[in-house]
Amino acid sequence: MKADVFRRRRPAGAAWLALPAALALLAGCQPGDAKGGFQKVVYRNEAQVPRAAFPDPPPVTPGASAGGVAVRIVATNLPGGVTQAMVDEGQDLYGTVCAACHGQNGTGSAAAPALNDAAWLNISGQYPEIITIINNGVAAPKQFPGMMPPKGGGSFDDAQVRAIAAYVFALSHQGGA
Ligand code: HEC
Repeated sequence: MKADVFRRRRPAGAAWLALPAALALLAGCQPGDAKGGFQKVVYRNEAQVPRAAFPDPPPVTPGASAGGVAVRIVATNLPGGVTQAMVDEGQDLYGTVCAACHGQNGTGSAAAPALNDAAWLNISGQYPEIITIINNGVAAPKQFPGMMPPKGGGSFDDAQVRAIAAYVFALSHQGGA
């Protein structure tokens, strides 16, 4: 059809006839007419779809797994000289190395025992013992296949070790004993 139209435009006389004919044809083929074509220009003119506002990401406590909510332990029966602030600091430090083996919140794993209960393998669970075992690690584990390196392989100063021990103490003495 189209080819036919253009061939007829070449002779000078016929051009004037062919032009309106071509326009009429094109008008007939115009996309977007009532018969269900598509509107070519419409995308450019369309209003921007507003982007949904992203919610704030959940707060990440250092040491907690990303997105996790670190529940603070409210310790009730701390030994003398141990404060809630130490427990909180210890919880953050605990998450940096200890959690890898002992689990988040001290729930234990295949690599290391739970620390959130009253059962102990190497010590009786007193605060000074916890400090000592953190400093020394466990070279000869009673039950678990791998050893615990001194300070769990982390580098903590004495105050930080006391804070971690405070957290472990609070974890394991939640029942009151
Ligand atoms: C590489 C793994 C690993 C890391 C990291 C680690 N531990 Fe351990 N932990 C162990 C193993 C293994 C034992 C001994 C289990 C056994 O005797 O069978 C242990 C024992 C303990 C015990 C004594 C538990 C008991 O029942 O006698 C405490 C307390 C403890 N770890 C605290 C910590 C703290 C706090 C940290 C972080 C500073 C830490 N551990 C890091 C593997 C680890």
